[in-house]
Amino acid sequence: MQIAPSILSADFARLADEIGVIGDVADWVHVDVMDNHFVPNLTFGLSMVQALLKNTSLPLDCHLMIDEPDRHAPAYAEAGARSVTFHAEAAQAPVRLARALRSAGARAGLAIRPATPIEPYADLLPEIDTVLVMTVEPGFGGQSFLDIMLPKIRRARQLVRDGEHAVWVQVDGGVDANTIERCAEAGADVFVAGNSVYGCDDPAEAVVRLREAAVKAGESAWWTH
Ligand code: DX5
Ligand code: ZN
Repeated sequence: MQIAPSILSADFARLADEIGVIGDVADWVHVDVMDNHFVPNLTFGLSMVQALLKNTSLPLDCHLMIDEPDRHAPAYAEAGARSVTFHAEAAQAPVRLARALRSAGARAGLAIRPATPIEPYADLLPEIDTVLVMTVEPGFGGQSFLDIMLPKIRRARQLVRDGEHAVWVQVDGGVDANTIERCAEAGADVFVAGNSVYGCDDPAEAVVRLREAAVKAGESAWWTH
């Protein structure tokens, strides 16, 4: 069970410090790259990721909510991001792109929006390392978790289990102390959390709590046996 706090909910003027606060307890730093085209919001780009890489020892999990990931995503892997996730809806050649990310040394992630089914990507799973099931419409932090995505998390886990290659199932959007249990029960093992970490007075404590809840829920989950 891994926790990836999203700096989308952190203080953008103090990002290195904000990452430092969760440095000892988080598994990843989740960096939401938004281009104002694929989603109606604008955040960071490659130069910000390069700057963050120089200022943290935590691995970066770059979630690219951008058009034309085939063109732009490999540079994030080449820069040193340990995981680079592109959206299925935006990619022209997901297999070629995933291979480019892997050969640049990153884990390759495939993200799907709430209205995108997982099944058409089932045969691609050997080419990817993480499936990101969005549990809100991408674009903004602080939205409510979409319970209607739980069956998709379950189906994603089932597909992963049916395959031979170990693929992580990540959830992103509205993950907090309550919803993380349902995600873990359904099949998620990597949890992005923005508001429920950086919206707290003690973000590190929030990460510890989230992990405890996920581990506990995972112990009795159908997919861990
Ligand atoms: C939303 C982003 C998320 C966002 C989650 O499009 O992909 O990573 O930071 O924020 P919370 O956890 O506040 O829903
Ligand atoms: Zn994200």
